[in-house]
Amino acid sequence: MLFNVKNFTRMFAVVVLVIGVTMSVAHTSDARADDDEDEGQRPTVSNAKWKGECGACHVAYPPRMLPAESWRAIMSGLDKHFGSNAGLDAASANEITAFLEKNADARKHDASGKPLLRITETRGFKSEHREVAARVWKNPKVKSPANCTACHTQAESGDFNEDNVKIPK
Ligand code: HEC
Ligand code: HEC
Repeated sequence: MLFNVKNFTRMFAVVVLVIGVTMSVAHTSDARADDDEDEGQRPTVSNAKWKGECGACHVAYPPRMLPAESWRAIMSGLDKHFGSNAGLDAASANEITAFLEKNADARKHDASGKPLLRITETRGFKSEHREVAARVWKNPKVKSPANCTACHTQAESGDFNEDNVKIPK
């Protein structure tokens, strides 16, 4: 009996050690993948027209947050843009569309074929914000999930890193 208990204890110690090592290895490779993939840390691109026109009513949402088909759909309906008129002259619209498409998310967000018009409806957005409590979204200082700058203090410069998030009280 005593022998078994000792044996069990040793086995347990080995298992704990193995799990510990596996977890720290997994964590390290995770952290490395984050540096490449992390939405918050990807290099930012800019265009003066885009920043001026698309940053007038809300933060100029980074092109990488939607696929090209979504940007095309948004840009072709600016006169009826989420209840606002964001219509532009053709030259500006063309320049901005080209900039958005060139820097768009290469993945498709939706297999249904209908392009998403909102970043806040993408799977990526939902998973990144899974841990944000319901009462936070209801805070009048937040108003809308599309109001990125309410929490992302550096969003204006294209930085959505979680280290620069400050939830309004
Ligand atoms: C006249 C004001 C105005 C201008 C200019 C404007 N928008 Fe918007 N935009 C809005 C409003 C209002 C919403 C809805 C915000 C909300 O739901 O809280 C919105 C929402 C969006 C969303 C969806 C946000 C989300 O994920 O829920 C995208 C994407 C977007 N705008 C892109 C653009 C682009 C690209 C331009 C420049 C061509 C632009 N907007 C210019 C007013 C504007
Ligand atoms: C109510 C506050 C709030 C709003 C509004 C908000 N976010 Fe966030 N966001 C957060 C929090 C908190 C995190 C970190 C979540 C975590 O650590 O699990 C986060 C994480 C992220 C990340 C991942 C960052 C990283 O370092 O991994 C991205 C990208 C992001 N948000 C983009 C956006 C965009 C784009 C908008 C607007 C369309 C937005 N967020 C609106 C609170 C907010």
